Order: sequence, then structure tokens, then C-alpha cells
Amino acid sequence: MSAPRVKLDIDATREKLAALGLAHAVEALDGLLTEAVRAEMPAHVFLERLLEAERSGREERRIRTMLKTSKIPTGQTLENFDFAFQPAIERSRIETLATGAWIRSGEVVLMQGPPGVGKSHLLVALGVRAIQLGFSVQYFRFDELLTALKADAHLRPERLKKRKYMSSSLLLVDEMGYDPMIREEASLFFRLVSYRYGRGAMIITTNKSIRDWTELLAGDEVLATAILDRLLHRAHVLNIKGRSYRLRDLEEALKA
Ligand SMILES: Nc1ncnc2c1ncn2[C@@H]1O[C@H](COP(=O)(O)OP(=O)(O)OP(=O)(O)O)[C@@H](O)[C@H]1O
Ligand SMILES: [Mg+2]
Repeated sequence: MSAPRVKLDIDATREKLAALGLAHAVEALDGLLTEAVRAEMPAHVFLERLLEAERSGREERRIRTMLKTSKIPTGQTLENFDFAFQPAIERSRIETLATGAWIRSGEVVLMQGPPGVGKSHLLVALGVRAIQLGFSVQYFRFDELLTALKADAHLRPERLKKRKYMSSSLLLVDEMGYDPMIREEASLFFRLVSYRYGRGAMIITTNKSIRDWTELLAGDEVLATAILDRLLHRAHVLNIKGRSYRLRDLEEALKA
């Protein structure tokens, strides 16, 4: 049996919705009208369903666009993180961070630990969650961030603060500490940290412990102290000591 056809002239309605920019409502209109007739849907329910189609369509598009423009790598989420494998990471702590309250107050998450323990995975997963919550997010590997900072070194302040690494609600900085910085890089990084301090949230992952930061920051102890002072004020420090997930696969292959 075919679905009952709606005998309404809805072209004019469709055109008005389109003129108002309600593209998702236009798309949902036919199906919803058919259903409304068949199920004898009250007018207020129909209206609610139509508006919801528009709202959820926009929300999905916003998330898709932001995932792309944030440059965030794909595939790593909180759902596919194996907490049992890494007992050094308290699940409840990550779940609290996943609420995003710390992002609103511009706080910092610093994740330290050896290779393969899941630092980047958690950074990406929390970034994706932040996008779903509606925050603007930007991802940089640390070396890419330095390249961008150097390219913008002579930008005037009013242009500089429009850069995504300054203006995003959440800045993700992955893999800090592989190479020591030169003096110019260290002071550009300081400028970024002081601008964002109290304004915007950050997640930084690093394989260096805090006591190595002076060496990392061009050997400048004054600068290192000034940076750490700002980063660690109201910071969430996660020290991840544990086995490498990458090596787990190797261990299992060797066992087999
Ligand atoms: N607990 C885990 N559950 C599921 N996958 C994990 C877990 N830990 C790590 N992985 C996976 O293992 C790989 C390595 O993890 P990740 O890149 O997060 O390590 P890392 O701590 O950032 O290491 P590095 O310091 O080398 O950058 C990734 O593919 C990640 O998705
Ligand atoms: Mg990593």
C-alpha cells in the first residue's frame, strides 16, 4: 500500500521557508506533512517537528564544519579510549573535563607522559567533545604552531588577536617538547600564553616534565618561569605513567 498523498499546495510555503534561509525545514517539509496527515498530528506538534528539523540540521552542519576547520585529526574519541588499559588515567577526571566547564573559564590541561600512553588520543577526544558542546576549537602540532607564530611575528595586535590560535575558545597544542626552541620561538610562545591566559582554554601534550621546561624554552629560566606560572595557574595536570598502547600491539604479535 502506498503512503497517502498530501493534497496541499505547499510550493508557496516551501518558497517562503527557503527565502528565510530555513533549508533543512524545506527538506523535511514533504515528509512531515505526509506524516502529519496520516497520524492526525496536532498543529503545535507539526510546528515543533519542523523547527526541530531545522535546528538539528544546522547543529549537524556546524559540527561537521568545525571538525574540518579545527584541523583536528579524526577517529579518536572518548568512546574508543580503553581506560582499563591505562589505569594511570582516572576515568572520572576525564569525564569531568568532558563536561567542558573548564573551557568556559579558560583553564589549561597539561598532559605529560612517555610515548604511546594516549596523550594525543585524549587531546583529540576532548577537542571533538568541545566542538559538540559548541566551542570553537583549533588544533596545532607544536611545530606547526611555531611556524604560524613566526609567520605572524610582525602582525599588529588587532590583527593578531583575530588569529585562530588566539581567538579560539579551545587551543589544542599537540607534541610540545620534541625539539628545544630558539630564543625567538620561546618569546613568541610566551606572547601566546600571556594573551590566552584567563581568556581561552588550552590542552598541551608533552613528553617533557616541568623541570625540563627551562632547557626546552631556549634555556631562559625567567621566560620558562613566566610561562609556567601562567599555564599552571588553575591547570589540570595529568601525569600519565604507563605502558605504550603502540607497543601493546607489538607485544601481542610477539606472544602469538
Ligand atoms: N587507552 C587507549 N585506548 C585506545 N587506544 C589508545 C589508548 N592509548 C593509546 N591509544 C592509541 O594508541 C596510539 C598512540 O596513542 P597516542 O598517539 O595518544 O600516544 P601519545 O601519548 O600521544 O604518544 P606520543 O608521545 O608518541 O605522541 C593511537 O593510535 C591511540 O589512538
Ligand atoms: Mg602524541
